[in-house]
Order: sequence, then C-alpha cells, then structure tokens
Amino acid sequence: MTTLIINIKELLQVRESNILKVSGPEMALLPTIKNAYLVIKDTLIAEFGPMKNVPQKTFDKTIDATGKIILPTWCDSHTHIVYAGNREQEFVDRINGLSYEEIANRGGGILNSAQKLNQTTEDELYDQSKERLEEVMRLGTGAVEIKSGYGLTLDGELKMLRVIKKLAQQYPIAIKATFLGAHAFPLAYKENRQGYLALLIHDILPQIAKEDLAQYVDVFCETGYFTVAETEQIMEAGIRFGLKPKIHVNQFNSIGGIQSGIKYDALSVDHLEVMTTEDIEALKNTNTMPVALPSCSYFLSIPYTPARQMIAAGLPLALATDFNPGSTPSGNMNFVVATACIKMKMTPEEAINAATINGAYAMNLSDSHGSITIGKKANLILTKPLSSYYQIPYAFGSNLIDCVFIEGKKIPI
Ligand code: NIG
Ligand code: FE
Repeated sequence: MTTLIINIKELLQVRESNILKVSGPEMALLPTIKNAYLVIKDTLIAEFGPMKNVPQKTFDKTIDATGKIILPTWCDSHTHIVYAGNREQEFVDRINGLSYEEIANRGGGILNSAQKLNQTTEDELYDQSKERLEEVMRLGTGAVEIKSGYGLTLDGELKMLRVIKKLAQQYPIAIKATFLGAHAFPLAYKENRQGYLALLIHDILPQIAKEDLAQYVDVFCETGYFTVAETEQIMEAGIRFGLKPKIHVNQFNSIGGIQSGIKYDALSVDHLEVMTTEDIEALKNTNTMPVALPSCSYFLSIPYTPARQMIAAGLPLALATDFNPGSTPSGNMNFVVATACIKMKMTPEEAINAATINGAYAMNLSDSHGSITIGKKANLILTKPLSSYYQIPYAFGSNLIDCVFIEGKKIPI
C-alpha cells in the first residue's frame, strides 16, 4: 500500500537517521522542507522532498495537503495511563485549600488510586485505559511509555503491566512499559520499608522478568516517598533483571536523585521542577535525558522545570505529559508543547524537538520514531491549514489536527 501526500506547506523535523537527540543550542533548530511531498509505503516513511522532485509514478492513494503542515507524532515518554477511576474529589479538595502533600498524608493520593485499582478487574482496567490511549492517539501521540505503580501489591502491579502489554498488542502505537512498584509505601508497610522493598525485589521483579512485562524500572525518589538509598536498591535490582532506570526525581525537593540516576545510567530523569546548579552540572555529558512535565506544574501550581537554564548549560530536554489521575489528568501533548513555550519560555522549535526526537530517545525509540526520516514509522500529524507552525503553541486551546497517521494508517478521529 503506497500513499503520496503532496503540496505539504511545511514538513517539520526532517532528520538523518544518525541524529538520536538534540541538546543545547541545537534545540533551537528545527530542520524543515517547505512545499514538500512525502511517500508512505505500508507502515514506513519511504521518501520525501521538495514538490519539484515529486515522483512521477502511480500510488494507491494521493492526499492533497495544501496549506497544511506535517510533523512526526508526539513521543510521550512519561505517562501513567493505566489507572482505575479518578481523583476528582481530591481536585476539589485542593481548590478548597489542601495541598497535594496533605492529601497524600491523609491516605489519599497514590494510595487512593491503589485502592481503586486493586478493586478493579483486569478487563475493566483495560477498558478504562484503552479509552485514554485512543484519546491520546487522536491528539497526535504515536509512541508512549506507561508505568505501573497504582497496584503496590504483587497482583495489582502484575495486573497493570499485563494491561499495558495487552494495549501494546492491540494498538499500532509504540508502547513501552515501566515497573513503578516503588511509587509509594502501602499503609501495611509504613513501618516496614525494607519489607516492601523485599516484596518489590524478590517477589514482583522476578515475575515481571519471567512474563517479560516491562522494559524500565522507575522509583518516586522524593522526601516522604523513597530515599536515594532505597532508590538505588531498586535501580540495582531492576538492572539485574534487565530493566533500565527511568526515575521520578526533583519534583518537590532536590535530594540527590539525579546524581544517583546518572550513576546507574538512567535513560531519563523526570519531573525536575526543583533544580540546583549542581543538578544541572551533573547532567552534562551523560546519556541521561532530562524530561520536563509542564502539565503537572500547571495542574498542581508548582514550579516549572527551568528549561532556559538547562538548555543554556548545553543539556538536551524532552517533554512528556505525566498523564495520571492525581497530578496531571491530561494526556494532551499539544497542550504540553504550548505550556512549555508559554511558561518555560521554550521556543516553538525547542518545544517540538523536546516532544518528538528527544521524547523518542527517552523511550529508546530513536531508530523508529521522533523524526521525518526514511525508514522510520509513518507516524505523522497532518495539521489543519495553518499560517505557520508557530500556531501550534500559540493557539494553545485549539484543535489544529486534521488527522493522525500511525504506522501509515489514518486513525479514526
Ligand atoms: O508523576 N510524582 C509521582 N507520581 C505521579 C503522580 C501520582 C499521583 O498523584 O497519582 C507524578 O506526578
Ligand atoms: Fe509521573
């Protein structure tokens, strides 16, 4: 099956296959082709270039994209899409003055979601989660990482990871799974922290490895959650089972989680709302991708990741949603890109790089996703007619997507 798309106003994020991520000043550069064509062959990008070189042969289908822009689909490298129910009541409690921390200390927060999840069957959890996955695909996401972490029991964690695996089998979008058993201490283990770590390390991890249920291991390294030493214990165990770390750090406090993520060669360190100069320094010349989650900052009214300082220090930066019921009930990467521009003062070019090629890096998907490159997946956003790509962050509340292709096929909008 071949599809020719012609008269594309601008084709964004055109890269050679050897570019895996962009850092520092390179983030301001977004290579594009104006007045372009693109050929999809089956599931892949087969060819593209300026319209003057459009191939003179027949195609199964031709699409006229006059006035429209094409970019690679968003790569959302940090989500918790699989969850049960919602936390709308906590949202209202926060409006009425309680803090995220106070809610968690009362047994709400992650433990509230865990209770709901453990009372939900695997089929019901799948049905609730697939609605959210379909929604983010319609919003232009073509690759996503999904974490466990609302089970906090052997059965609950495995249930979540099996749901993620089933979603990956049923949907064409690329899905990576992360084991986040170390998301919070269940009440039963409040006084027996090593007991909970032993459950994660000796009971749950071997089963995950046996069923091949995850590629990454995550820990919520934060005051009141997991200490740096506990984080290292989990990362070490995960690595023994073949899982690379991708960790939650520096959301509320800088306690050394970044340095320890780097020590264990974490693929990414995520959140980073609170960053010291030492934290920024530590990330220089490492393989670890810093990931910012601006919709979480927006929803919780907490600081935004200091993108300008990090980019000025020569670092790369990726953007992701953090879609979850407590701190970010939104999986809209278009909003993430707009918020990064509006609140973090990233330029449109920087934000698009962060949400595509650098997001792909943070999921080990650089070979197949994140740019317009021959041989990569034909995962494309075709916009409505736009004056320029600046409109994507500028018109932050509008739906600018005409259609989304995943593996070469238009997904139902
Ligand atoms: O990434 N910070 C830790 N975990 C999630 C939120 C969890 C929740 O409140 O349910 C996050 O923001
Ligand atoms: Fe998260």
